[in-house]
Amino acid sequence: MTEIKGLILSGGSGTRLRPITHTYAKQLVPVANKPVLFYGIEALVQAGVEEIGIIIAPQTGDEVRETVGNGSDFGARITYIEQDRPAGLAHAVLTAEEFLDGSSFVMYLGDNLLRDGVPGLVQRFRDESPDAMILLTQVDDPSAFGVAELDEGRVVRLVEKPENPPSDMALVGVYLFSPAIFEAARQLAPSARGELEITEAIQTLIDDGHDVRSEVVSGWWKDTGQLVDMLEANRLVLDDIGSRLDGTIEDSRVEGRVIVEEGAVLKNSVVRGPAVIGAGAVIESAYIGPYTSIGDGVRVVNSEIEHSILLSGSSVENLGARIEASLLGREVRVTRSDSLPKTMRLLVGDRAEIEIV
Ligand code: G1P
Repeated sequence: MTEIKGLILSGGSGTRLRPITHTYAKQLVPVANKPVLFYGIEALVQAGVEEIGIIIAPQTGDEVRETVGNGSDFGARITYIEQDRPAGLAHAVLTAEEFLDGSSFVMYLGDNLLRDGVPGLVQRFRDESPDAMILLTQVDDPSAFGVAELDEGRVVRLVEKPENPPSDMALVGVYLFSPAIFEAARQLAPSARGELEITEAIQTLIDDGHDVRSEVVSGWWKDTGQLVDMLEANRLVLDDIGSRLDGTIEDSRVEGRVIVEEGAVLKNSVVRGPAVIGAGAVIESAYIGPYTSIGDGVRVVNSEIEHSILLSGSSVENLGARIEASLLGREVRVTRSDSLPKTMRLLVGDRAEIEIV
């Protein structure tokens, strides 16, 4: 069987998730208490792709390296490849040329999540050996993506973030390539946003008469580049979890599917799943509602939280109101000195401190 390598992109500056991404690679933000990037690595390994290169940015690369390691935890061998600047997906491919060493490869954008992974797609690529294969899905806002124009199922044209989309079929962040992509990528000039666009490289393959095939995604797909998508991904992943109560539960009610990790303490509280409570978290006189991921060591006291993600070490105390649709970074502290029963929407960076009066 010909080897297919993996290339996961974990560079980029994550501008749409600032301030979280001032200090953190967006691919490390957890969904159901697991970094988004881990889902991508697992998807590749599940598809039989174990030789994986991860593209990292100079600013956040060390943390990605430390968090992911050499791949042995995933059953993979991981090589890190630094991309000196966020110059586009096709630039990332060219940066990885030495690692890819003439193999075909699956490129996976590290902030993408696919419910059903990629095994079917990789298998089809192995069986049919086209020059490239793209994955498509129907979206409501095609202008935010690369868009494909199809003619009886055949891809005839691809456009990146078109003002007038030729269809509502968006390019999902998973691509399969033969080495033909390198020559196409080398011919590109930077786009309006100053990047070498992979969408244009694939268009070049089509123009040159190469065999480019497409498949429509089964199951859900999420690009977690923005807060609403992150929360939606969290909701979708939590929808599939089971129950496991390993922490200490005192005078509390746990309803529905909930994971409580070891060392977590629930006191005088209600947790209504699906939800995950990380190791060492303290939930006291609190309500944790559906679709909430509470990170390791988080404290929620006298407060209510629903449909939110709290990163490790953050705390919410005496709020007297419900937080919803929010993402709190690491070691964020939210407290209250007065009470106004209003719902809040927050996107707060690591180590911020907020006091609501
Ligand atoms: C990139 C691609 C785009 C694709 C999207 C999928 O967009 O350029 O064609 O539809 O990923 O997540 P970006 O995230 O760089 O805006």
